[in-house]
Amino acid sequence: MGSVIIALDFPRGDEALNLVDDLGEAGTFYKVGLQLYTAEGPRVVQALKDRGKRVFLDLKLHDIPNTVAGGVRVASKLGVDFLTLHTVGGGAMLEAARDAAGETRLLGVTVLTSLGAVDLEVTWGRKSPSVAEEVGRLADLAAQHRIHGVVVSPHEASSIRSRVGPEFLVVTPGIRPEGVGRDDQQRVATPAAAIAAGADYLVVGRSITRASDPEAALYSILTEVDLANSNDG
Ligand code: C5P
Repeated sequence: MGSVIIALDFPRGDEALNLVDDLGEAGTFYKVGLQLYTAEGPRVVQALKDRGKRVFLDLKLHDIPNTVAGGVRVASKLGVDFLTLHTVGGGAMLEAARDAAGETRLLGVTVLTSLGAVDLEVTWGRKSPSVAEEVGRLADLAAQHRIHGVVVSPHEASSIRSRVGPEFLVVTPGIRPEGVGRDDQQRVATPAAAIAAGADYLVVGRSITRASDPEAALYSILTEVDLANSNDG
């Protein structure tokens, strides 16, 4: 069953919350990223919770275990539903985060979608593995350390889904409805294709937030998602 998380990539809280209020009940789950969180801090999370929304805090934590656990604990107390961390922080960091997570679901970032094979060689010193292999290996690491799921491109969703259990959450950005421009995303898929590949949650940003009619854009995506969910059984 796929559902939609709307990415609030805005520099200011009032812009973000105006959109949330315009979308009303149709928007149920919102992602707060680095830009908005740096501008507004926990009050933007609180404002969303006050409106009855679920919150995905996308801070991609990566530090020593004690420091990451401290951040996770505070996010959990704020009522954050999903929180991201880098799986390359290692097993001890993932375990410490998980122990601190409470009701918050932790999502592992594997290989950033901005990195390619050359970056894996130059930055990570990995010669032979493909990006897809590295993503799979890091997803396994996340699952071994009780992380709840991963954020991956829709193109990796089906292979991840087949190597981890059905409980493991697969969250996919890079969603573009048919006929909508790709912007800076390299590997995109339609909402229906992402659900068919096994995604549980679709992160959608500009296709809604920059649409001339964001409400209509959201309704159209929700309609496509509902149809794909019913085809998916
Ligand atoms: O506007 P768009 O739909 O491309 O936004 C996608 C959202 O998902 C952005 O907030 C972006 O930071 C996030 N994201 C991504 N690719 C990843 C991880 C997160 O596009 N690998």
